Amino acid sequence: MSRGWFVTGTDTGVGKTVVSCALVRGLRARGLDVGVMKPAETGVEAAGPLDAIALRDAAAASDALDQICPQTFALPAAPTVAAQAEGREVDAEAIRAAWRELSSRHEFMIVEGAGGLLVPIWKGATMADLANELSLPLIIVARAALGTINHTLLSVEAAEQRGLTVAGVVISHATGPLSDADTLNLMALRDALGTRLIGEIPPLVGHALPAEGAIDLDRLGL
Ligand SMILES: Nc1ncnc2c1ncn2[C@@H]1O[C@H](COP(=O)(O)OP(=O)(O)OP(=O)(O)O)[C@@H](O)[C@H]1O
Ligand SMILES: [Mg+2]
Repeated sequence: MSRGWFVTGTDTGVGKTVVSCALVRGLRARGLDVGVMKPAETGVEAAGPLDAIALRDAAAASDALDQICPQTFALPAAPTVAAQAEGREVDAEAIRAAWRELSSRHEFMIVEGAGGLLVPIWKGATMADLANELSLPLIIVARAALGTINHTLLSVEAAEQRGLTVAGVVISHATGPLSDADTLNLMALRDALGTRLIGEIPPLVGHALPAEGAIDLDRLGL
């Protein structure tokens, strides 16, 4: 069994945090001590890094927020871009140090990337490089709406070409109910993914949480 999963997406805003939190809750329900990380969060306002806070709350982790999320930036852009806007650089060592600490403290780690797989995390490194460095298999979160066949299959292919393991794909219906065309399109994606599709989060209303079992943890070897 791996020590964790790196949750990436086909894009920003596709449901990575929703899926990461669902994974954390599912793992905890199986008795695992789960640690969480959002290595770099951008678009951070006075309320703090909201993805990292959601992950921390799902894990009921007592770890410091600046370890869960060692790098925060105000501009809602890729980490390197948001850092540059502040005249800073992303501190790779701070991310590595937090990972070492948290991954040694917890049985299993869920790490949420920023944006998609080829988004730069620090100078010269993408999210794919980070997942590789942490030796974590990927969970890829995909949209349900039109465009998703291409985005999802490109992400799977890019991951595999880089030697990463795709543990599974989860589709999240972040854009709400689908049109007839979207529905047919999604059926084609499900077929194309076959057994790599390990879960689907239907459109959630308000602050509803995904149903337990929406992601098939058994298929992930747990
Ligand atoms: N299945 C769903 N049903 C309803 N709303 C959803 C669903 N999945 C995600 N959302 C909503 O879509 C928005 C984006 O989701 P989320 O924050 O999880 O995406 P993300 O990929 O983590 O984004 P980011 O790139 O900013 O980290 C949020 O408002 C979230 O509540
Ligand atoms: Mg997120």
